[in-house]
Amino acid sequence: MLLEAIKYDKEERKLEILDQTQLPWATHYIEVKNVEDGWNVIKKMQVRGAPAIAIVGCLSLVVEIVHHWGGYKEKETFFQYIEIKLYYLVTARPTAVNMQIAAEKLTKLAKHMCDNETYDLLYMKCRMIHEIEEMLNNDVEANKTIGAFGATEIKRFTGVSKKGTIRILTHCNTGCLATAGYGTALGVIRSLHVSRELEHVYCTETRPYNQGARLTAYELVHDKIPATLICDDMVAAVLKTKKITAVVVGADRITANGDTGNKIGTYQIAILAKYHNVPFYVAAPTTSIDMDIPNGHDIIIEERPEKEITHMNEERIAAEGIKCWNPAFDVTPASLITAIITEVGIFKPHELEVVKKIRADAQVE
Ligand code: MRU
Repeated sequence: MLLEAIKYDKEERKLEILDQTQLPWATHYIEVKNVEDGWNVIKKMQVRGAPAIAIVGCLSLVVEIVHHWGGYKEKETFFQYIEIKLYYLVTARPTAVNMQIAAEKLTKLAKHMCDNETYDLLYMKCRMIHEIEEMLNNDVEANKTIGAFGATEIKRFTGVSKKGTIRILTHCNTGCLATAGYGTALGVIRSLHVSRELEHVYCTETRPYNQGARLTAYELVHDKIPATLICDDMVAAVLKTKKITAVVVGADRITANGDTGNKIGTYQIAILAKYHNVPFYVAAPTTSIDMDIPNGHDIIIEERPEKEITHMNEERIAAEGIKCWNPAFDVTPASLITAIITEVGIFKPHELEVVKKIRADAQVE
C-alpha cells in the first residue's frame, strides 16, 4: 500500500493531509476546512513538495466552495472570489510554480464560463470542482508515466542492462508525500525497483529541513526499497566510490531554458555529478515548467527561518549569536542537466518549447 499524503473523500468533500512535520515519529492527519487552512498547512510545510502544494491548495478551495454552496449569488462575484482565493494560495510558498500554473489555468476557465452565457452559476461551480478533483488522478497518472519513462531512459543512456545493477542518488523528497501518489524522481526509483533493475538508492538527509532523512527514508523503508541515507556533505564521496548510475531529482520550477529550481543542495550535487561523469536527471510533471521565465535568474527563492538551521528538534545546536542564511531552494543551470523527464516525454533542457506547444494544443482541444 502506498503512503497517502492527501486524503480526499469525494462524496463527503472532506480533505485531510498527513502532517509531515511530525513524520516519521507520528502519523497524524489534519483536516483542511477552507482556503485559510490550506494556506496555513502549505506555509508551515505540513504538506510540501511542488505538486502536493498545488493539489492541497486547490482542494482547499473546493471544500470552501461546498461549505458556502448557496453563498454565491452571481457568476461575476463567484469568478472574483475564485481569482482572489487562488492567487492568495500562490503566496504561501513562492518558489514552486505548480500552484501558480493551476491558479492561472483555473482562473482562465472561470473567466471563460463567466463571460459566456451558455454557462450558469451552477455549472460554473460544478465544473471548477470537477477540474480540481481531476488534479489528484492526473498527478498520479503523470507520475507513473514519468517513472516508466525515467527507468527506460536511464537504462538506455547508461547502457546498464544487467538486472539489479542500477544505483541511484536522489535528494530531498519527491515521493508519495510530495505528490498525489507514486512520486516523480522517487517514481523513477519505484519503477526501477518494481522491474528489479534497481540495486540500491542513496538518499541525502537534505538539511536543514531533513526531507531526505525524515520523509524519503521513511518511504523507502515502507516500500522495502534497498537504500542508504547519507549526509549532504557525503555526496562527492558517494559519487566517487559507490558506482552511481545516475542522479535523479525533482523540481519546483523549471524555466524556459531548462534551468531548474529545486531543493537547496541540488546545484552542488549537479556540479559533483558532472565532475564524476554521472548523468543528472530532473523528473517533474509539465506543471512544474514555467515557460514565462526565460532562465533561472528570475526564480524567486524562498528564504526560511534561521531556526531551521540553529535548532534540531527544538534544541539549539548552533552557537548563540551566529547569523544564518536559509534559502530553501537553489537553481541548477541547464548545462548541468542531462535531461528532463516529464509525463509527455524526455527532453534536453533546450527542447522545452515543445512542452509549451503541447500545452497550448491541449487547451484548444
Ligand atoms: O521545501 P519542499 O520540501 O517543498 O521542497 C521539495 C522539493 O524541492 C522537491 O524536490 C520538489 O518540490 C519536487 S516534489 C515532487
